[in-house]
Amino acid sequence: MGPPDGIAGVFDRAADTYDDVGVPWFGPIARGLVDELAVAPGERVLDVGCGRGAALAPLARATGPAGYALGIDLAPRMVDLAARDLADLPQVEVRVGDAQVPELPPATFDVVASCLVLFFLPDPADALRAWTRLLVPGGRMGVTTFGPQDDRWRAIDALFDPYLPPAMLDARTSGRRGPFASDDGMTALFDAAGLGSVRTAHRTVEAVFRDAEHYLEFSWSHGQRAMWEAVPVDARDAVRADVVAAVTALRDGSGALRFEQDVRHTLGTAG
Ligand SMILES: C[S@@+](CC[C@H](N)C(=O)[O-])C[C@H]1O[C@@H](n2cnc3c(N)ncnc32)[C@H](O)[C@@H]1O
Repeated sequence: MGPPDGIAGVFDRAADTYDDVGVPWFGPIARGLVDELAVAPGERVLDVGCGRGAALAPLARATGPAGYALGIDLAPRMVDLAARDLADLPQVEVRVGDAQVPELPPATFDVVASCLVLFFLPDPADALRAWTRLLVPGGRMGVTTFGPQDDRWRAIDALFDPYLPPAMLDARTSGRRGPFASDDGMTALFDAAGLGSVRTAHRTVEAVFRDAEHYLEFSWSHGQRAMWEAVPVDARDAVRADVVAAVTALRDGSGALRFEQDVRHTLGTAG
């Protein structure tokens, strides 16, 4: 199988540095989701869009050797690296699979988790319904999205706007529009999927960048890479200079750049 197109292709190219540039980010975000899901030893757990395993690793540790933790992701390089990194946990399996239409048997998981994935999918409402069908009665769903973004961080993102196609301008990942803009929007998606006892938990995660170069390295290592790749190659140096200037202006007394990010975990239960 060749490299995938679209957003999965972006993550395939980012996989080697994903969550590995010295910014504790995806780990702390995913651990918040795993805490909220309170996985018990022996449970069967699915992590949809598992990436390098930020959630899959703590989920697998929580279910233990008597349990089962399956991660699926559409980016083969993510799958290869997650499988390599988690090879010492026999309860883990990682496979290439599409979160939009997961080809898994119904009613087989006690817990379905998905961290920072739903907003990338072509039809999030339909995907959530499909994930819900994979839960046993009483099984728990947990989905992580972003809350409001720091205005300073958003101003840096806005430097890419002139180059982004319309679909990327509706920056669902930063929660400005659509179902990802609010707790209520996510709750409505959960209601429409037939999930009950829906609740929201917010946590704050801090990103710290040593300097502008560190910020640039981070920005290529995850979904923001799609924004860089949308900038024509001959315009990238100019955008890079603008980003460096904006980041440099925001540094604190120690020379570092700090952003706090609100993270939204939406939890529900299958009937
Ligand atoms: C921001 S990353 C999150 C990864 C991981 N859950 C974490 O918290 O670090 C988004 C992930 O979703 C995956 N992804 C995007 N579209 C997908 C799809 N249709 N099916 C499965 N995975 C997908 C990407 O390959 C990427 O690994």
